[in-house]
Amino acid sequence: MAVPSTGTEVVLTGTGGTEVVTIRRSAPRPPGPHGVLIRVEATGVAFAEVQMLRGRYPAQPKFPFVPGYDLVGEVVEVGSAVAAWLPGQRVAAMPRTGAWSEYVEVRDSELVSVPDEVDAAAALAVVLNGVTAWQLLHRAAKVRSGHTVLVHGVGGGVGILLAQLGVAAGARVIGTASARRHEALRDIGVELIDHRTEDVRSRVAELAPGGVHAVFDPLGPESLDKSWQLLAPGGSLHAYGSSSTLHDTGPWWLPYVALTKRLARWELARLIGRTGGRRARMYYVKSNAQFRADLERLLRMVASGQLRPLIAQRLPLESAARALDLHISGTQTGRIVLVPGLSSDRTVA
Ligand SMILES: NC(=O)c1ccc[n+]([C@@H]2O[C@H](COP(=O)([O-])OP(=O)(O)OC[C@H]3O[C@@H](n4cnc5c(N)ncnc54)[C@H](OP(=O)(O)O)[C@@H]3O)[C@@H](O)[C@H]2O)c1
Repeated sequence: MAVPSTGTEVVLTGTGGTEVVTIRRSAPRPPGPHGVLIRVEATGVAFAEVQMLRGRYPAQPKFPFVPGYDLVGEVVEVGSAVAAWLPGQRVAAMPRTGAWSEYVEVRDSELVSVPDEVDAAAALAVVLNGVTAWQLLHRAAKVRSGHTVLVHGVGGGVGILLAQLGVAAGARVIGTASARRHEALRDIGVELIDHRTEDVRSRVAELAPGGVHAVFDPLGPESLDKSWQLLAPGGSLHAYGSSSTLHDTGPWWLPYVALTKRLARWELARLIGRTGGRRARMYYVKSNAQFRADLERLLRMVASGQLRPLIAQRLPLESAARALDLHISGTQTGRIVLVPGLSSDRTVA
């Protein structure tokens, strides 16, 4: 397979609404010595891209840039020093930006093999969100059968997979989500609380009077105090985002400073034995050897039918602005996936 002469990519030209989302044609370059050029089959829309659109994602590139956290695709061409990959193989990766493009170069060591039988959108759904959920649950919180956990934003991309994987591990999962998402989440086996109309703290206290073993909280500093109070002795709080500060003004890093201060205070209290064994940690997903091992495991779970990621929509890459609007609207439950080459918008049941 030769390097194609041109491909489509999506560019964010500055902060704002989806009017700053631009489609352009560009010529893919032959890969560098350790590079692998991939024809993208599926790339995801996540909260991260919404934050980038607002200029509020930690350490995002300067505008203009091509966003796109994760991808699944087929190898087109490999660099001169690449031994492990061949044209025609299916791969997944998490480059963090750049994936909203028909052709993407990724370093050879960052790739994971995708089984032929796995649908591209289903595979894509477990790259960023699946590995994040798996690592929060199994590496950070070490959730076991019989544990009770609270998942904030359980109708979100990470939250749904946290719930599915938690239930698969034998845990009791309580989750917060807007009522409009409850129907789509019913079959997962999660006990739902509508955070918009119910008092989350008292509802969780009713459902789990002794507290919960773990809380997974992507909402930000304000939410963390309440989450901490819901922990059982020995329980753990896992902060992994700041979703509720999307519309804040001021520097993007302010909520993270507030978040870090709280975590430091609790860690100090834990070290002097004042927390009843409770602990709080920040989690960040990284594209490293653990990430690849966990992604391989998740792809095997998808291939065997043990894990069925929810796909809300598959849209052409050129519909990136619409995909972002749909994500922001909160009307979709499940991953919105961009598919280069898809000719017309298609909703998947
Ligand atoms: N640390 C890491 O490595 C890592 C990795 C992946 C993602 N993240 C972060 O995790 C967060 C979630 O990402 P995602 O892609 O899963 O997002 P998503 O699909 O957009 O879902 C966000 C969820 O947050 C909920 N939400 C927003 N504001 C809320 C509030 N004030 N109270 C309660 N729920 C609220 C929404 O719930 P309803 O619509 O149901 O109200 C929605 O389900 C983001 O902050 C993202 O940056 C971090």
